[in-house]
Amino acid sequence: MNSTINNLAYFTDGDKNKKPIVFVHGFPFDHFMWDEQAKALCRDFYCVRYDIRGLGVSPSGDGQFTMESFVDDLELIMYELNLNKPVLCGLSMGGYISLRSVERMHDKFGALILCDTKDSADDNEGKLKRAAAIKQINSGGFENFIDSFVLNCFGEEYVKANKSGYDAVVKRSKKNNPIGVKGCVLAMAGRTATTHNLSKINLPTLVICGNEDKLSPPNVMKSMADQIPNSNFVLVKDAGHMTPIEKPKEVNDAIGKFLDSLE
Ligand code: MLT
Repeated sequence: MNSTINNLAYFTDGDKNKKPIVFVHGFPFDHFMWDEQAKALCRDFYCVRYDIRGLGVSPSGDGQFTMESFVDDLELIMYELNLNKPVLCGLSMGGYISLRSVERMHDKFGALILCDTKDSADDNEGKLKRAAAIKQINSGGFENFIDSFVLNCFGEEYVKANKSGYDAVVKRSKKNNPIGVKGCVLAMAGRTATTHNLSKINLPTLVICGNEDKLSPPNVMKSMADQIPNSNFVLVKDAGHMTPIEKPKEVNDAIGKFLDSLE
């Protein structure tokens, strides 16, 4: 950890005079999920990661989070680190934060990378699933919740071929504070859709999706990319929802090519 901003833990790699990229992680993970991207990109870019409030080593407080408060946190980090038009890169819940940030403060960003995420809000079925997750956690099922949620995030190939890497992700996710995890669940359940804003995004945008992603499937992400005027869609083979961890080389290549095109 480099330090904290308003109690949020942030981590930087690379030279702060280079073009900044801010990475926003998914749920129920933390900044580690971007390790391979930060390692590959920090030679040419200033890579900024942070732990979303309630996850990793950022505090959970009372767990009363909203998607709006997550956007406020991101805005404050950008302000305090003096990031000029960063590339914003978010996965899943990090993508919800990114899409809403772009809706709220479009001109503060230079480009957008959306990994395994979606523009819709939770429908009724989705909200009931969130309620069931909170009930499970409240009745002593935190570890079981993490086991099943994380399993659903990964493609079959990764889980079979990288047992120790997968187990490490599960173990790390179980270290999260249940109050923070429930706060994120409620924030996701209460988020607004960002669909109406997609056609207004006037930023070079890269959309990355694992072909086995069950949470934000390729057809949903392709349709999202089709609505963003200046966007490219990249489908990553043999990967689920966690493309940056499952297929780091393919994801880094796609991001590298995209960033080169911005020069
Ligand atoms: C995530 O990876 O951030 C979550 O799957 C998002 C969600 O549950 O909607």
